[in-house]
Amino acid sequence: MKRQVTIAVLAALAAASTGASADVVGNAKAGQGKVAACIGCHGIPDYRTAYPEVYRVPKLGGQNARYIESALHEYQKGDRKYQTMHANAVSLSDQDIADIAAYYAAQTPATPNNPYK
Ligand code: HEC
Repeated sequence: MKRQVTIAVLAALAAASTGASADVVGNAKAGQGKVAACIGCHGIPDYRTAYPEVYRVPKLGGQNARYIESALHEYQKGDRKYQTMHANAVSLSDQDIADIAAYYAAQTPATPNNPYK
């Protein structure tokens, strides 16, 4: 009996750690409306910001949607540490993350209205 409870708890923990995102489907069109806050850093020419100091920002356009999703979940939980990205990620829902990931994954250098993504 006790053993079954343990197994149930472990199963619940496993489900929680993979997140609810498994059945959330990203929508690139919806994502386009959710990246305004990201463009200031991730959409600059040459991916180099100059304030307050010069630093490189990773290019998101064309990256794998799953990779972008897991990176955002990691920033959210603090598993991947980067203060500004943590601040950005905590305000996003699982649906936001899936939409944004789908949006960025769909970008190519030739995407007309997004030359920098
Ligand atoms: C203040 C600047 C800034 C803003 C705003 C910002 N980011 Fe970032 N982002 C960064 C930096 C710098 C990194 C690299 C951090 C690191 O080394 O982990 C990063 C990393 C990432 C990564 C991981 C990329 C990779 O190649 O590993 C993703 C995904 C990401 N950001 C998504 C977003 C999204 C989505 C938004 C908007 C909701 C956003 N960022 C807003 C600066 C920013």
